[in-house]
Amino acid sequence: MLADKRITLIIGGGIAAYKSLDLIRQLRRAGAQVTPVLTRAGAEFVTPLSVAALAEVRVFQDLFDLKDETEMGHIQLSRASDLLVVAPATANLMARMAAGLADDLASTLLLATDKPVLIAPAMNVRMWDHPATQRNLAQVQADGVQVVGPNTGDMACGEHGPGRMAEPAEIVAAIAAQFGPRQMTGKRVLVTSGPTHEPIDPVRYIANRSSGAQGSAIAGALRDLGADVVFVTGPAHVPAPDGVQVIRVETAREMLDASLAALPADAAICAAAVADWRVKAEFTQKMKKGAQGVPVLEFSENPDILATLSTHALRPALVVGFAAETEQVVSHAIAKRARKGCDWIVANDVSHGTGIMGGTENAVHLITADASEDWPRLPKSEVAKRLAQRIAEALA
Ligand code: C5P
Repeated sequence: MLADKRITLIIGGGIAAYKSLDLIRQLRRAGAQVTPVLTRAGAEFVTPLSVAALAEVRVFQDLFDLKDETEMGHIQLSRASDLLVVAPATANLMARMAAGLADDLASTLLLATDKPVLIAPAMNVRMWDHPATQRNLAQVQADGVQVVGPNTGDMACGEHGPGRMAEPAEIVAAIAAQFGPRQMTGKRVLVTSGPTHEPIDPVRYIANRSSGAQGSAIAGALRDLGADVVFVTGPAHVPAPDGVQVIRVETAREMLDASLAALPADAAICAAAVADWRVKAEFTQKMKKGAQGVPVLEFSENPDILATLSTHALRPALVVGFAAETEQVVSHAIAKRARKGCDWIVANDVSHGTGIMGGTENAVHLITADASEDWPRLPKSEVAKRLAQRIAEALA
């Protein structure tokens, strides 16, 4: 899978470093050559000897090792690979990457390289959630760094939440995706994502619990396959992916206009949780409590973007809708596919207790013209990759 690919693997100082030993093993098994770089903190968790034994080459540790500078300088080392991988990427390492520091071998290689960089963050959940880390994450992503994980689960420190390093197999898959065939080069895809906000008055609106996580992940996965992605997003909680054309909207009507403006496209993936109704006459002034008592809102129906695209003169060759259901998921989704006139429906159960809406995982059913497939519960990023792969095959 990775035959003759040269990977520089920077191992940062976190407990997840032990998983990097398995990562080296899996990369070697996939045919890659691994050049390991161990930070000073990384060497507190795994020994240079075990890293070198698994990689079957020497470990680079120190910027000021003059022997290395005569045999191979740090600039040369930063470029003598096809990809730089940082696993685990600690909060500190991410902060130094975001700031452009070059105060040890790892950070210097990351600053000097002209090759793509993939990081697998791993840290305590509060460190991950901290605005500083989230800022640094956004910065490194804006700089073009690819990110795999972190996963949500129990942490070595006893807490629970996002911060666990992605499993070695996931990191290998993310590495393979960097080198994978870009089957969607030249294809244009519209992705709608996030909730819509339907105004009641200048300060109030009707919304839903969609985070936009699944739509963002799908747009990113399609981009990774080389597609030219137009990402029309409502006010979502998760950031839009890099490397896509982002169009921000608030209401269903704005989302429809932006979606139609994106045509012609080869495919439309309608992952947005569009409000079905809006307040018929938005109040121009803030509504006040008063003698007139409790207000009664009258609704009118929003345009159905998915149905409109499915019957449009410029209908994309593949139109995919989503169905968030709380009961009879598959039968409702089959009926929805017919009603909306789309090609596929990705259906999921968002009833209370599944943790899917706003969560990091999804368990979906893919409804096509002739089959209904039950996919296992997977991280939304993985659902996105599988779906993107299917879309690529359908458009091939
Ligand atoms: O009708 P329902 O909201 O259950 O259908 C969900 C699917 O329809 C999703 O793909 C969603 O993006 C799309 N949709 C839309 N415009 C609407 C309502 C839903 O595109 N007004």
